[in-house]
Amino acid sequence: MKRTYWKHCHVATMRDGRYHAIEDAAIVTCGKHIEWVGARSERSASGTDACVDLQGAWVTPGLIDCHTHLVFGGNRSLEFEQRLQGVSYADISAAGGGIKHTVRHTRDATEDALFESARKRLLALMREGVTTVEIKSGYGLDLNSERKMLRVARRLGEALPVTVKTTCLAAHTVPSEFAGKADEYVNYVCNDILPKLAEEHLVDAVDAFCETIAFSPSQVMRVLLRAQKLKLPVKLHAEQLSPLGGASLAAEMGALSADHLEYMSADDAAAMGRAGTVAVLLPGAFHMLQETRRPPVDLLRRHGVDIAVASDLNPGTSPALSLRLMLNMACTLFGLTPEEALAGVTRNAAKALGMLGTHGTLEAGKTADFVAWEIDRPAELAYWLGGELPSRTVRHGEWRDLTSV
Ligand code: NIG
Ligand code: FE
Repeated sequence: MKRTYWKHCHVATMRDGRYHAIEDAAIVTCGKHIEWVGARSERSASGTDACVDLQGAWVTPGLIDCHTHLVFGGNRSLEFEQRLQGVSYADISAAGGGIKHTVRHTRDATEDALFESARKRLLALMREGVTTVEIKSGYGLDLNSERKMLRVARRLGEALPVTVKTTCLAAHTVPSEFAGKADEYVNYVCNDILPKLAEEHLVDAVDAFCETIAFSPSQVMRVLLRAQKLKLPVKLHAEQLSPLGGASLAAEMGALSADHLEYMSADDAAAMGRAGTVAVLLPGAFHMLQETRRPPVDLLRRHGVDIAVASDLNPGTSPALSLRLMLNMACTLFGLTPEEALAGVTRNAAKALGMLGTHGTLEAGKTADFVAWEIDRPAELAYWLGGELPSRTVRHGEWRDLTSV
């Protein structure tokens, strides 16, 4: 296997969720894996097949966007205009818009059309150093349409140099054909959608939306229990718009993550800390919905909850095409430090996807996914607003070239 010596760089390893910076560092990769990371003075290039000069770059783990809904039909810019006029997200949803609007457009779209539109959005994330992305279904809400979305997600991972984790979010909202029959729809999700799509190996994890405009905690619990019977890890959209106790429920079920969390309580934070459930914060949705209640970051810190940050890329509440912008917003809107924000899209995002054993930090034995940034300090990753920050990405031990994809 090819051994490469990467030198003339500084490394933020993100081990334990801290920079653990090594200045004047070197990295040795062997095939797809990291063999060694440390101070350059401690290891020479001897025994390696190639030597790459990183020209003083700062190297971080490849970025991980652990919560996206990036496969969808149409867009909701019209609703954006309505919300700016004062109509609420819940009102739009009650009038048959919101998630249901996107469901109509996603059901109508061909698999190829969904693939093409999602591919462009995913490339925008990848150009900023994203090497792993989670993609949820949840705009199909029937077996065939959920299957179509998850197939697109899998195809994206095969066609592009990026690692894709799929999540089945069939319990995103009650589709109009089940209006007033949420429990029956939950039966359909549990008895048909989940087992069939799991059998087709389209599902890496299962999620649900616990909210007054979606599913109650007891309905959500049925979905998550069914997922666990299928041996699938679970996660939950919880406490986004109201406090229903979904975060505690997720933690008690050993969920990988609970996501959003603006309305979470101290009890929720304690339960998540005990369970090791990651808190995934989504500043794009908070910003787009012009929310004023921030997720309680101090409570999360106090209870030792690992915090991740993600784009929530979706057409309704977070049309966010930049994970780096989310780092800035996690700092300015939620009060994270740039170091916490970076941990949120590396180590803790890997944990939220159940991938910490192989991804998320730069340590011997892990997958050689990393980004070499032309910056002077790691905090710059959360500092620059938009634009292009010069960087080059290594995936599986090789430079990633996006010009031909
Ligand atoms: O994460 N909260 C639920 N789901 C998405 C929004 C989906 C939509 O509005 O289309 C979210 O914000
Ligand atoms: Fe979401």
